Amino acid sequence: MATTSSFQLYAFIIFLGCLHLPSGRGTSTAAAAAALFVFGDSLYDPGNNNYINTTTDFQANFWPYGESFFDHPTGRFSDGRLIPDFIAEYAKLPLIPAYLKPEDHQFEYGANFASGGAGALAETHPGLVIDLKTQLSYFKDVGKLLREKLGKKDAKQLLHNAVYLFSIGGNDYISPIGTNSSIYYSYSQAEYVDMVIGNLTTVIKEIYGDGGRKFGFVESLPYGYLPNIRTLTSGESIEEVTTLAKLHNKALAKTLRKLQAQLKGFKYSNFHLYSSFMERIDNPSEYGFKDAKKACCGSGKLRGVYSCGGKREVKDYSLCNNASEYFFFDSYHPSEKAYRQFAELMWSGTPNITGPHNLKSLFDNVSYKPYCFGFV
Ligand SMILES: *[C@@H]1O[C@H](CO)[C@@H](O)[C@H](O)[C@H]1NC(C)=O
Ligand SMILES: *[C@@H]1O[C@H](CO)[C@@H](O)[C@H](O)[C@H]1NC(C)=O
Ligand SMILES: *[C@@H]1O[C@H](CO)[C@@H](O)[C@H](O)[C@H]1NC(C)=O
Ligand SMILES: *[C@@H]1O[C@H](CO)[C@@H](O)[C@H](O)[C@H]1NC(C)=O
Ligand SMILES: *[C@@H]1O[C@H](CO)[C@@H](O)[C@H](O)[C@H]1NC(C)=O
Ligand SMILES: *[C@@H]1O[C@H](CO)[C@@H](O)[C@H](O)[C@H]1NC(C)=O
Repeated sequence: MATTSSFQLYAFIIFLGCLHLPSGRGTSTAAAAAALFVFGDSLYDPGNNNYINTTTDFQANFWPYGESFFDHPTGRFSDGRLIPDFIAEYAKLPLIPAYLKPEDHQFEYGANFASGGAGALAETHPGLVIDLKTQLSYFKDVGKLLREKLGKKDAKQLLHNAVYLFSIGGNDYISPIGTNSSIYYSYSQAEYVDMVIGNLTTVIKEIYGDGGRKFGFVESLPYGYLPNIRTLTSGESIEEVTTLAKLHNKALAKTLRKLQAQLKGFKYSNFHLYSSFMERIDNPSEYGFKDAKKACCGSGKLRGVYSCGGKREVKDYSLCNNASEYFFFDSYHPSEKAYRQFAELMWSGTPNITGPHNLKSLFDNVSYKPYCFGFV
């Protein structure tokens, strides 16, 4: 077909142009032009918490975590891949490993700083997780390394083309409920949400200052439907955390619109996780799930006790036969199948679900200039 051959010709020209790169970037890197940087909590953590001093509450590096896709537990809080793993695949990037994993990192593809249990506030699980501010400091370290490796101009262009994913806030809202958290109870709910969003905004602006332009967010989810919260939290507390999630989502949407108006070239994608989550909980069979109430792994009513794997406080647990029949893998976290559905919507969803841009359009919109002499 004519379209195919002209595409191949075009790709060939790009290939030739990139081959002459003085910085010696591999052609495969040049083809995957937009890197992926990931910040956040257990929804996005590929195993950073394996390398910090914490407790098993904030780790998932034991069986049966990972059983459906990886042949070993990786530290991901699910039976298989997480949203950033699918996004990397759709963007034709390699899997982005945990930043703290000791290996030869190819930061040209990006990095993942997310940490299970982390929040935007330093008071959320202090000392046990990598909070958002520390994740930012790791990103700054990567920026420095890239400048040393590629030179200032190419590093800046890489950060400019990259997409930055965030999943943050859930732990700031869930952790103080039913405790005596002094920070939470010193503020009104709206003020508390503003602090969370304020800290996120600070991080966005820092990344923007380093050249970042393309950002992807997910809303807070309906926490009251997580098997753990559904079974072990009072009705009053569920109402409280639901109010926080809704306030968060309103404030996030407003802040993102404001940033778009304020910051030249700032583009974002905001995935309506709340309604997408509810859709599946209300109509599991329409989305291929047999159960969207009960966890696949855990103990107690709806397997809501966070004991999956038997390495936490409660040792007793049971495991379902087939994780892909379940929306929830453990008492807090979705299964790989649920994550895949969300990742697909984030990648190519329509603006009423993922807007104003979807991640595909953010990744597609890349300037190849610094790698390819600017003629393609
Ligand atoms: C890890 O934390 C425990 C408990 O807080 C402490 O006893 C231990 O010394 C810490 N280990 C390291 C390597 O920091
Ligand atoms: C975030 O909030 C905390 C208060 O919990 C504050 O100490 C910290 O400096 C703030 N800023 C950032 C960027 O995290
Ligand atoms: C909260 O504080 C009160 C009084 O200071 C105490 O009686 C109660 O046990 C505390 N609750 C928790 C969950 O720490
Ligand atoms: C697990 O469940 C999924 C979805 O219902 C189904 O497609 C798959 O065949 C099942 N796998 C096994 C091994 O039963
Ligand atoms: C979003 O819009 C698409 C068409 O653009 C429509 O098919 C879909 O039902 C809408 N979804 C929601 C949740 O409104
Ligand atoms: C892609 O970039 C071009 C030029 O920089 C811009 O005009 C267009 O609006 C961008 N599209 C998206 C979806 O960001």
